[in-house]
Amino acid sequence: MKLEAPSVSFAVNGRPVDAQAPLLTRLSVVLREELGLTGTKIGCDAGDCGACTVLLDGEQVCACMIALGQVAGRAVTTVEGLARNGSLSPLQAAFQRHGAAQCGICTPGMLMAAQDLLTRNPAPAEAEVMDALGGVLCRCTGYRKIVEAVLDVAGSGLGETPAAGEAVGARLAKVDGVQKLTGAEVYGADRAPADALWIRALRSPHARARFSIGDLGPLRAAHPGLVALLTARDVPGSNAFGIYPVGKDQPVLAADEVRFRGEAVLLLIGDRNSIESIRDAEVPIDWQPLDPVQGLDAALAKGAPLVQAEKPGNILTEGLVRKGDLAAGFAAADFVAEGAWETSCVEHAYIEPEAGWARREGDRLTVAVTTQTPYMDRDEIAHILGIEKSQVRLIPTACGGGFGGKLDASVQLLLGLAAWTLDRPVRCSYSRPESLASTTKRHPAKITARAGCDAEGRLTAFEFDGDFDTGAYASWGPTVADRVPIHATGPYVVPNVCNRSRAVHSNGPPSGAFRGFGVPQCAFAHEALCDELAARCGLDPLEFRLRNAIRKGDSTATGQVLEASAGLADCLEALKPRWTDARRAAETFNDDAGVLRRGVGLGCMWYGCGNTSISNPSTLRVGIDREGRLTLYNGAVDMGQGANTIMVQICADALGVAADRIVYVMGDTDLTPDAGKSSASRQTFVSGRAAQLAGEDLRAKILRLGNVGDDAVIELGEGEILLRDAGAERRIDLTALTPDDLGDVLSGEGHFDPPTQPLDENGQGVPYATYGFAAQLAEIEVDTELGTIKVRRIVAAHDVGRVINPIQVEGQIHGGIAQGLGMALMEEYLPGVTENLHDYLIPTFGDLPPIETILIEDPEPLGPYGAKGIGEPALIPTAPAIFGAVHQATGLRLRFAPATPYRVRAAIRAARREKGDGHA
Ligand code: FES
Ligand code: FES
Repeated sequence: MKLEAPSVSFAVNGRPVDAQAPLLTRLSVVLREELGLTGTKIGCDAGDCGACTVLLDGEQVCACMIALGQVAGRAVTTVEGLARNGSLSPLQAAFQRHGAAQCGICTPGMLMAAQDLLTRNPAPAEAEVMDALGGVLCRCTGYRKIVEAVLDVAGSGLGETPAAGEAVGARLAKVDGVQKLTGAEVYGADRAPADALWIRALRSPHARARFSIGDLGPLRAAHPGLVALLTARDVPGSNAFGIYPVGKDQPVLAADEVRFRGEAVLLLIGDRNSIESIRDAEVPIDWQPLDPVQGLDAALAKGAPLVQAEKPGNILTEGLVRKGDLAAGFAAADFVAEGAWETSCVEHAYIEPEAGWARREGDRLTVAVTTQTPYMDRDEIAHILGIEKSQVRLIPTACGGGFGGKLDASVQLLLGLAAWTLDRPVRCSYSRPESLASTTKRHPAKITARAGCDAEGRLTAFEFDGDFDTGAYASWGPTVADRVPIHATGPYVVPNVCNRSRAVHSNGPPSGAFRGFGVPQCAFAHEALCDELAARCGLDPLEFRLRNAIRKGDSTATGQVLEASAGLADCLEALKPRWTDARRAAETFNDDAGVLRRGVGLGCMWYGCGNTSISNPSTLRVGIDREGRLTLYNGAVDMGQGANTIMVQICADALGVAADRIVYVMGDTDLTPDAGKSSASRQTFVSGRAAQLAGEDLRAKILRLGNVGDDAVIELGEGEILLRDAGAERRIDLTALTPDDLGDVLSGEGHFDPPTQPLDENGQGVPYATYGFAAQLAEIEVDTELGTIKVRRIVAAHDVGRVINPIQVEGQIHGGIAQGLGMALMEEYLPGVTENLHDYLIPTFGDLPPIETILIEDPEPLGPYGAKGIGEPALIPTAPAIFGAVHQATGLRLRFAPATPYRVRAAIRAARREKGDGHA
């Protein structure tokens, strides 16, 4: 006889509820699955991330760590309980005003932790806020705007409401902000068809092995709730996917060999309890482990096993940029500096693991999934299923962080495969360990580089060799290998260059796209070399960089002459007074310091916006329906970076209406034209320009229809457009016009593909239409006994061309700095070791210092209103700036990231030993 699950009575958001589930069921699951309160998020199920934070009798708890049985008779408050009578609470309003939510996946947890604090302490100090919210992780914001928001809870308003024509440049609050603050936003794991079966992937415990799958009949018989098992044989199209059309090398489900730990080999599909109760050991798989190729040295060793049979020497691809005469450049140098650097494997650690659902209807398939790239997903799903692209509809859910990690297909392929072949709706949510083990990473790198300068400190030559561990499959390895040598000299004028890169296969997890595509790794080298050369020729490090900074009219390493928008020198000039003061203050502190030593460092960067040397188009459409509603069909996925808001602002000004008159559709491949992927800092620049053109196109059509002049004012009414032109009024009756398939009676479209040129065999050409530039200053303190590094302050000066929305730009800079800080000091993914967020550490509230942002506007003529990208530029200079600061503090030139305490301590001791210091 089957026992009924007990019923547990408690209150949620002031209402009594009875939940019928086993007493050990996690409260987070009860709230989400039983009560439909999906505002409570799940990021780890282990008490690490705090995304599930709710109030239990008024105190913050992690709902994933509370069993249903523990809440009997008690009161639970979730994010859905904060707003009153349809109005945001003061705390929610403050979050909206300050841009404290980016992707929003951590926001419910942040709000609940803050609510707990404010109930006890209505006017907390900053340290109290950071302490109270310290258990909730955010990967997007760098925490500073969250702190600002909590401290400003007594403030009022929801941000600026710009008039028509004034949206660009305004501090407009996120157009999708409110739903992130109320818990109404729908992420990948939040909705699915009621009858959806659950999918669980069985994954390899070995980094390299051959395997065979035995008789699955007994497994089916033992688990009646197991509806289907799918293997490589069940993939109806091509069991190979990958970013590039040529060289798709990754199986959806491995056929007989696995190449990294965490690779999927089989799908279990059925009811949730059944598939979760199946132990891996129950599945009849015969593993024959092989020695894995681990790391770059092993992969490049003579006679190393080939990870991919058709890639000799484990070299996936190589990149080269060569200019001038390198030997002559070094011969002309008065000073030469060189070094070797190594960086770790870094995990994206977005707080939302991969999730989504899929359903087949006849010969069409709908997949709703968290993603950065709906159009590539659509095409990839069609490819593996052997069907037409037009048969697949990809609907991006809200995306709880991506940073490049959701540019590769993952759960969407499993969903598409299962829904299509079974003709049943399915859903899947990766666990945190599964997400960490199976998805792409930042390439670990080994770099050697040298640079020379003349007696005046002008760079004469630069040579760079970088090997990037691309793991088992190609993913974005070719992109990294292409982008690295272009950027490796840094944002400086160097007449003689030879930069080489290699993407190297190993049995590590596939390395893919991660905010910077290899450029952050290069920046360690070029910035350290600048510091060393500056020291040798007796120049201040900032002055050295100013002397070499690329300016308008200069030629880059690829021979591209920058015609416009090259604001590095302005960034450095803006930092100069702060730099001088901070360096002096650190020297003074160190004069009589003991164990603690302070330092200040600089990091500079440049970053080409968009794809490298290939077409990179985006199309946006805006339409108006019979009621006078404006809809922006925006394929530029917002993964938290603010694309929804930015596109609306740009389009509104181009059209000449207030931003709040525009609603948007994001990324639905049946409704929105292809805007490409959200990557490479391209959306503001490329899709933003398309949004501007779309707005201008619709405006021109409206003015033409109304027979009025270019300066006419557009006013939207109920079913009509009123046009005011030099004192005259004209009306367009929208109800008299014929709607198109989307219900719009008038529409405008904008298309932009930034002009680039292919590179020749020496890497000469025009790889990008424009570049972002930045300089950051980091002040740090080193505990020379413990080896700990505390970042005390960052000043970030960024040339963004034109600021479309200061809140969004500041938020991107803060978040990039947080990730750069993590890369510098703590983040290192080790397969099988760091597979949850208590092992893999990312920065928390206490790690982020005060950040001052300085926005430089050197307009890019091709960009929308002069704007260019900021997403990746925000991260790149931070780590080199921190490493430079360590040198002033300790005299050490760190060569390995992350600079964890044990590494720093060991380096300090080694240096002391070398100097014969008895304290070593
Ligand atoms: S989901 Fe509960 S702490 Fe992460
Ligand atoms: S806004 Fe905090 S994780 Fe994205």
